[in-house]
Parts: sequence; C-alpha cells; structure tokens
Amino acid sequence: MFTDNEQEKIQIAVFPVAGFGTRFLPATKSTPKEMLPVVDKPLIQYAVEEAYDAGIRNMVFITGRSKWSITEHYDFAYELETELEKRGKKEFMTIVDRIRPRDMNVMFIRQERAMGLGHAVLCSEPIVRNRPFAVLLADDLIYNHYGIQVLKQMCAIYERNQQGVIGVQTVPYEHTHRYGIITAGSRLDDRTYRIEDIVEKPAVEEAPSDLAVIGRYILPGRIMQILANTQTGAGGEIQLTDAIKVLLKDKTILAYRFEGERYDCGDKLGYLQANVQMGIHNRDFGEDFKEYLRSLDL
Ligand code: G1P
Repeated sequence: MFTDNEQEKIQIAVFPVAGFGTRFLPATKSTPKEMLPVVDKPLIQYAVEEAYDAGIRNMVFITGRSKWSITEHYDFAYELETELEKRGKKEFMTIVDRIRPRDMNVMFIRQERAMGLGHAVLCSEPIVRNRPFAVLLADDLIYNHYGIQVLKQMCAIYERNQQGVIGVQTVPYEHTHRYGIITAGSRLDDRTYRIEDIVEKPAVEEAPSDLAVIGRYILPGRIMQILANTQTGAGGEIQLTDAIKVLLKDKTILAYRFEGERYDCGDKLGYLQANVQMGIHNRDFGEDFKEYLRSLDL
C-alpha cells in the first residue's frame, strides 16, 4: 500500500468530512455538504480527484453521523454497475468507474464527535503514523481552469524542499476572522514563503496579515503527536492551526499562494459562484450556458 520512498512523496490524503455544514442548512440537514454537486459532481469527488491527480492513492475519510452517502459514493454499486453493464451503457460505466479508479484505496474512520478540524486530522493517526500526508477540505473547491491542479503544485514544492506546505490566498481584511491567518517570513519565490506564525480566526483588528489558509495542507506526521496534546482553541474546537503553530517551533512550514480559483462551497454564494464558473468551463455545454447567461436581463 505504501512504497519505500515514503518520506519523499506524499502517499496519503485525509478528507475531514464529519462537520455539520450548518452554513448550508436546510440542504445539509441530512445530506453531507461534501455531497452537494457542483454541476454534476459532488464536492468530495473534486477533492479526491485533485489528490489522485497529485499521485496520491490512499484516501482516508474522517466521517461522522449522517455521512453514509459519502461511503456509498466510494463503494461498489452492485445493482447500478451490473445493470449498466447488462445494457451496454459504456458511457455511464466510465463515469461510475472514474469515481474510484482501481488503484485507489479508500479508508473510512469514524469521528464520534465533531470536535474540530485538528481532532478530525488526529483521527487519521492510526493510518498516517509518522508519514507526511495531505489534508483536503472538500468545501474549499479549488480549480485551476488553465493548468496544474493545486495539490499537485503543492506536492512538487514538498518534494523539492521536504517541508510542510499550506495553501494560502489573500482575502479582504474584513474576512480574516473566518480563517487561519499566517505571518509570512522570508520568501523562497514569488508564491512561497516560510511561515513565521499562524493564528486561527483572529479578530479583524488583530489579523497579522491578509494571507488566509485555504483548505489544502501537506504536513509532516509529527503533527499527530502535537495534536494529541492540543487543547481546545477558537470556537471551543481542537484546531489544526494551533498544532501548526507549535510545529513551527521546530520545523519550517511553507505557505504557498496557489494558482487556481477557490470557491467557498460551504457558503451559499460561493457555491453558486462555483456552479456558474464550472458551468461556463464545461466542455459539453459551457458555450450554451454562457449564451444563456448573456441573455439574462440583469
Ligand atoms: C478551517 C480552518 C481554517 C482555514 C479554513 C479554510 O476553518 O480551521 O484555518 O482557514 O478551514 O477554509 P473552517 O472553515 O472549518 O471554520
């Protein structure tokens, strides 16, 4: 399952999917927010495809109550697949096959209580152990319409430097209280900085910068020991950001201003924007959709 050069390449991606999705009620009362579709694919599939495209084959989902449909999405759908095969519906079979390529392993860990992102990541420790790993938050849909996808960009940086990498983006100052915010130190290049400090959801007037952490992380396995000793922080939750802050005392972690569009799909407006943008870029009907949008009397 894991190859020998495990220190050099990222082989595991962790998907924390146990959150309540309260910002998206009522849709998320019984449907996991990660299963909300953007055009025709659920959010979780975009994130898993991004990890797969970055060369990762071991996908670990941290799930909770009411999240069974995510498990189903990544399971073999016997009736559907047999039926499609019987009817010779090759095109649909390809779509279904693509969800879970044969060389991809999926693993599910149940987070009994939603105690925060840090706690969710810690739940993956029995699989991750001391290996470096990626974390993807599926409600941050990030798509580079013109080139390499973001986790692949980040894996390349990891492979070059053998240091953790966190995806960041500038946000309007008045939004800084919604994010982990970093203090950037020395630069490696135009897009990459050493992180000096990090704080979870600071008050706007206390935000050290406008560089916000967006849901893509490559972290060393060492973070697990730190998480195990991390007390609750902002919002009464065990925060990944707080553990990263401790990690910074003895490890260099890089912040990378990624190339790609990010849509906050945990938010209704962000979700609508994602659908419009992915619709516009859709190969089959993008042009027709654009024509429709142009015809609107706004
Ligand atoms: C989480 C992280 C935060 C990060 C954000 C990105 O917050 O705790 O540091 O900036 O994801 O989306 P959440 O959105 O789960 O409150």
